[in-house]
Amino acid sequence: MERLAKYAGKKVMVTGGLGFIGSNMAHRLVELGADVLIVDALLPGCGGNPHNIEGIRDKVQISSSDLRDSDAMGQLVKGQEIVFNLAGKISHIESMRDPFADLEINTRSQLSLLEACRAHNPDVKIIYAGTRQIYGIPEYLPVDERHPLQPVDINGIHKMAGGWYHIVFHKVYGLRACTLRLTNTYGPRMVVRDSRQGVIGWFIKQALDGEEIKLFGGGGQLRDMTYVDDAVSAFLFAGVTDEVDGQFFNLGGEAVSLLSLVQLLTCICGSGSYAAVDFPPERKRIDIGDYYSDYRKAKRVLDWMPTTTLAQGLQRTVDFFRRNKEHYW
Ligand SMILES: NC(=O)c1ccc[n+]([C@@H]2O[C@H](COP(=O)([O-])OP(=O)(O)OC[C@H]3O[C@@H](n4cnc5c(N)ncnc54)[C@H](O)[C@@H]3O)[C@@H](O)[C@H]2O)c1
Repeated sequence: MERLAKYAGKKVMVTGGLGFIGSNMAHRLVELGADVLIVDALLPGCGGNPHNIEGIRDKVQISSSDLRDSDAMGQLVKGQEIVFNLAGKISHIESMRDPFADLEINTRSQLSLLEACRAHNPDVKIIYAGTRQIYGIPEYLPVDERHPLQPVDINGIHKMAGGWYHIVFHKVYGLRACTLRLTNTYGPRMVVRDSRQGVIGWFIKQALDGEEIKLFGGGGQLRDMTYVDDAVSAFLFAGVTDEVDGQFFNLGGEAVSLLSLVQLLTCICGSGSYAAVDFPPERKRIDIGDYYSDYRKAKRVLDWMPTTTLAQGLQRTVDFFRRNKEHYW
């Protein structure tokens, strides 16, 4: 695509580049000929995995610095043209169990990076990975960017702050920052060992292992699913679009019930089964019910649309994990 040709030779930093979405981003940037710097401290409790950059390891630079290390960030951001800021902690349930760890990663780390950019590279473009969790329980569907922000968990509050820091740094200091609010993103290189990165990865592992998948409350909840390549495209488009600066954008995808998702998944895997179980109270307290995004703003401004169907995306994901099981199980 012509506008992505602009990435050839561009100096691009990917924070969280050893994690799920960041590593898929790094693979794509290498294909586009970008000069890629991955910054990832492989923090425990996150989805970083050295195997995620298998195939591109000698084509990228890697720094194991933590975003909270402001001196290191000051050095690393110098000379970069675009920062895809994907470092974060995504587990909702973990944020309730250890709210201070979530605070450190989702707020302090973001401020540290933004302050480094302000001081050492004020012309850099920054695209931050926000989340739909900040909307809380939807008052209407589909949820657009004007929906009230009423997060139901600690992670939602901190991710909301992370997103707003980027917008405030644009408004006050002119930093060219914006926030994309991701919904359930799935695909190769995601965490499947547990339900830390959402339930889809966990369902995939259970289905491939021929186990019984437990659907809380029967799995009637609607969720929209974005295949990771589509999410990466949205970031890449935002990285070369001036109009996005200082704005929030929802991403989205195909809306399905978790039950339908699991039926499709077990059919693709040819293994696994499912059963309805009661919601554990700890999870019920932070459940948001049905959710799907209105992503017309991203369509209008970024000319972005998810193009991968759920069936295609799940098939590619299952194929990847069948080939790479030993690195993810
Ligand atoms: N995966 C999803 O479905 C989803 C949905 C909504 C939003 N998001 C957001 O997208 C971003 C990426 O998500 P992901 O699924 O790829 O997560 P991930 O856990 O796979 O990757 C995050 C990476 O960031 C690194 N990291 C975290 N804090 C760091 C720090 N302070 N310094 C250096 N490295 C650090 C971790 O080591 C990890 O490798 C996150 O900000 C997340 O909140 C993801």
